[in-house]
Amino acid sequence: MCINEFKWLKYDFIIAGGSDHMSNVRDIKRIYLNFAPNIKIRFVGRDLAIQRVIEWAEEGMWKPAVIFGPEGCGKTAWLKQSIEILKSYDYDVIYVNPFERILDTTLGVASLKKRLTQIFREALKTNVWGGVINTAIDVVREAIRVGRGKIAVIIDEAFQMIKTIEASSYIKALLGVMEHPPSHYERIVAIVATSEGRSRAEIGRHEWSDLIPMWNMSKNDFRELYDQTPGEKPSFEDVWRITGGNPRILRELYKSRWDINEVLTRIIRSKRLSPNFIKKWSRYLEKIIEDPDYLWSGDVPERLLDILLAKNLVTDNLYEREPRFWIDQPPPRKDLEIGVGEEVAWQTPLHREAMRRALEKFGT
Ligand SMILES: Nc1ncnc2c1ncn2[C@@H]1O[C@H](COP(=O)(O)OP(=O)(O)O)[C@@H](O)[C@H]1O
Ligand SMILES: [Mg+2]
Repeated sequence: MCINEFKWLKYDFIIAGGSDHMSNVRDIKRIYLNFAPNIKIRFVGRDLAIQRVIEWAEEGMWKPAVIFGPEGCGKTAWLKQSIEILKSYDYDVIYVNPFERILDTTLGVASLKKRLTQIFREALKTNVWGGVINTAIDVVREAIRVGRGKIAVIIDEAFQMIKTIEASSYIKALLGVMEHPPSHYERIVAIVATSEGRSRAEIGRHEWSDLIPMWNMSKNDFRELYDQTPGEKPSFEDVWRITGGNPRILRELYKSRWDINEVLTRIIRSKRLSPNFIKKWSRYLEKIIEDPDYLWSGDVPERLLDILLAKNLVTDNLYEREPRFWIDQPPPRKDLEIGVGEEVAWQTPLHREAMRRALEKFGT
């Protein structure tokens, strides 16, 4: 075959492959999510994230993916949508969410399903979750042994309930199953999701997983969600400026009948922005409110960065803004209106606003 012919073939392939793929994303049946009591909202946007799952479903994975992102940015919603996609590709799916106390499995081996369900019931009583995750990994191994070809294991919000060190040992164990399966398998999809800033650093030290960030929704996707939100509401631009595209904050605002103060008070309380904390760091915090990149300027004590990460107020070490490094669309390179810097970002503008209010109240 001459080179020209080859190029033509390749070109044809790209066109066929490309259009096929997009139609896959469009063909995906969107799930419905609880937005408020009696209000269900269709899963909107996130086309790139859906495309990513389709690729994983078709090709399998080499390593577990650890997805991290702001609280309420939509990780769980996307995972729930992903479960449906994986089922449609005939995967046996195991989904564990200790934080929301959910176990969902389509495992086709009754004895393994029973084992998992039993240990999950125990954990509901004792609130000790390590055993469930351990068992889930064991069950994957056993399922491969008995010949199940396609298995997906999804562990959501696990790190809120177990120690980080423990979490990273589970990821290593997952990698172990993928690298050294007890017998031949077709494909494994292994996804772990976390909002915990602290766990990211611990897990990132190892090469046992691909750490992939997810951000709040893009402006276009968020507009679709806003349009679906019922009742009278502030203008879209106002809601965007307050939420930065975070769907959970949108939900909180809706629940409080768009009373920002109510939502802010809750954030201030839950993040424990106490007078002592604020007074101690106020001279830095004022500048970080203006521009979160100041946290990476070298002028700010490392300790403050650690605290803000641990409180899930900011995210640092933001990856290059190319979609291949992200689940779905990356945040803007820098957009101070919504608190996004180049290297560091406020999780949402409302988190920044909570800090501003706390400074006004307790700062000197
Ligand atoms: N793509 C989406 N389409 C519609 N609603 C969404 C979407 N993503 C998130 N939501 C809504 O936002 C809420 C918070 O998202 P969630 O997935 O729980 O965030 P996270 O798991 O990252 O903390 C969900 O309960 C859902 O109502
Ligand atoms: Mg979640």
